[in-house]
Amino acid sequence: MAVSASYEATARAGDAPLPDAVPETAPGPGAPPPELVVRGLRKTYEAETAPVRALRGVDLTVGHGEFVALMGPSGSGKSTLLHLLAGLDRADEGSVTLAGVRTEELGAARLARLRRRHVGLVFQFFHLIDHMSALENVALAALVAGAKPAEATERARDLLDTLGLLEKQGERPAALSGGQRQRVAIARALANRPTLLLADEPTGALDSDGAAEVLDLFTRLHRDGQTILMVTHSADVAGGAQRIVRIRDGVLLDADTSGEPS
Ligand SMILES: Nc1ncnc2c1ncn2[C@@H]1O[C@H](COP(=O)(O)OP(=O)(O)O)[C@@H](O)[C@H]1O
Ligand SMILES: [Mg+2]
Repeated sequence: MAVSASYEATARAGDAPLPDAVPETAPGPGAPPPELVVRGLRKTYEAETAPVRALRGVDLTVGHGEFVALMGPSGSGKSTLLHLLAGLDRADEGSVTLAGVRTEELGAARLARLRRRHVGLVFQFFHLIDHMSALENVALAALVAGAKPAEATERARDLLDTLGLLEKQGERPAALSGGQRQRVAIARALANRPTLLLADEPTGALDSDGAAEVLDLFTRLHRDGQTILMVTHSADVAGGAQRIVRIRDGVLLDADTSGEPS
């Protein structure tokens, strides 16, 4: 449901131009700016008993082309962080700079457009649309972002081909294995060529074969230049990433400002 809700939000977002990208950190000569810069991010949920301080000042930089795993116990703020990074919710304090654009300065429509253009999201439980084929699930994401139907279908077919699922293009999610469903969800997340792929426990609902399938795919995407931030509980899965950052009680254990100029 979260997925279709966000699709509707992006579909309504209109096409107002975004401000020119202004990198928050000056990259070295020729170096692309980081895909993601997070500074001092705070989020408190108002709960019935006491407020929950889910994020208590998070600093994180993810460089262009990096594959980062985020690990931490249940309730440590991982999903909250990903939601804020994806623009699905607003922080109370702090900044999120995506592809050089400060998101907190954007109105809802521009934020939705930035998200649609730059962020791909993968969830633990796939969130595919049951009555649509694999191809339709992937093509829908491109359609919502404004692609013409023929273009969207071609892009979806190319992605399913790259992800080894072309022969499954006509199948509905129920006919696919868990690993295959998640690969379709990843294809959907890639439909608009996001600069940043965010994944929240993408192997959490899979058996070990399915998890290996998905991790292989992330490794391959990373090798082809995709920037990835992946939340996982599994040390094995995290071991497939280039770098691991750890979160506990809403703070990263080592405030991570790598990628900053010295
Ligand atoms: N919508 C919400 N309302 C109230 N509390 C929430 C909400 N979402 C998350 N929390 C609380 O915020 C904390 C962090 O949650 P979450 O980001 O989901 O952690 P994780 O993904 O690491 O398990 C937890 O204590 C959780 O119960
Ligand atoms: Mg979570």
